[in-house]
Amino acid sequence: MKFNLDAIDGNARACTIQTAHSTIQTPIFMPVGTSAVVKALDTNDMREILDTQIILANTYHLYLRPGDETVNKLGKLHGFTKYDRSFLTDSGGFQAFSLSDISKADEKGIMFRSHIDGSKHYFTPSKVLDIQYNLGSDIMMILDDLVALPATKERLTLSIDRTTRWAKESITYHREKQSDGIGVNQNIFAIIQGGIDKEFRKISAESLCAMDFDGFAIGGLSVGEENQAMYDTVEFTTPFMPKDKPRYLMGVGTPEDLVENIERGIDMFDCVMPTRNARNGTLFTTFGKINIKSARFKLDDTPIDPACDCYTCKRYSRAYLNHLYRAKELTYFRLASLHNLHYYLNLVKEAREAILKGEFQAFKREFYNRRN
Ligand code: GUN
Ligand code: ZN
Repeated sequence: MKFNLDAIDGNARACTIQTAHSTIQTPIFMPVGTSAVVKALDTNDMREILDTQIILANTYHLYLRPGDETVNKLGKLHGFTKYDRSFLTDSGGFQAFSLSDISKADEKGIMFRSHIDGSKHYFTPSKVLDIQYNLGSDIMMILDDLVALPATKERLTLSIDRTTRWAKESITYHREKQSDGIGVNQNIFAIIQGGIDKEFRKISAESLCAMDFDGFAIGGLSVGEENQAMYDTVEFTTPFMPKDKPRYLMGVGTPEDLVENIERGIDMFDCVMPTRNARNGTLFTTFGKINIKSARFKLDDTPIDPACDCYTCKRYSRAYLNHLYRAKELTYFRLASLHNLHYYLNLVKEAREAILKGEFQAFKREFYNRRN
């Protein structure tokens, strides 16, 4: 992929990433499409209504169902879903760790049981790349070794050492495959681990960033630590990451988390929050969150957010959405998901415009002021 650093404002960056399938302007939020679909929406909604340039999908889920061989036969992710822009796929390590009742890492990989039928599987660094070659994602994540926080120093040391060994194995395997003509247009990102310990983050970042990856992620955060600990960890880690490659903070977060971490030099984000919250009635607005279930919206003929120009806000009222939610109408899920994703995509777009103008601090102040 091609990478250009368009502007820097403090530590905040505006970049352009060009993959084989789309041009991604950062900071960017990637909607989560775990099973090759963003829940309640279709790929036409993503492309034509939200105008997303990149969607995240999960190796773990697609490997288990419908199977990566099946996706490959049907034209890989782009052909199967008819979304012709970019996909990033997570490696499966995190999902094996968080979804499986039983998962166990050893030196060579991770053994886990399927959350669907209990069957046993084993992911290794090369196996998850083979799956991602079948999926044809534009950005592939390496297998990493996750630890639940708080963790002992011994377990954290093992996690970063193992992640570094697996990273070396992954990059060697990928460059070999590419020289054989496989995954030629696919990029590979490493994942920095180390909990909220500065020394471990430094070691993990330095050893991974010395390798020839196309981009780097910060993983292992937003797993129950204090917000400030996450911000501090990101602030401490980004200086060890190359300036001329994308930086991705995995699984983060709230609108505040996006603003705080853009300020600290992150380019890419993903999180289930906008879509999951939409489905349970929590909608994001420029003045904070609202709960659409609330009786106070029963006769409210105004849009969710008068400042929002999304598909839903241009057409429908809070009263109508309140009714659809209470009546458990399926259309509610689509309209609410469209609004929340629009909110997230618009937030990062405004952050980018501010960075390009050198006005990120004013943007951040305004963001917080509007919410009080
Ligand atoms: N998603 C959220 N955090 C992580 C992480 O640390 N590793 C991986 N592979 N995926 C994640
Ligand atoms: Zn809206």
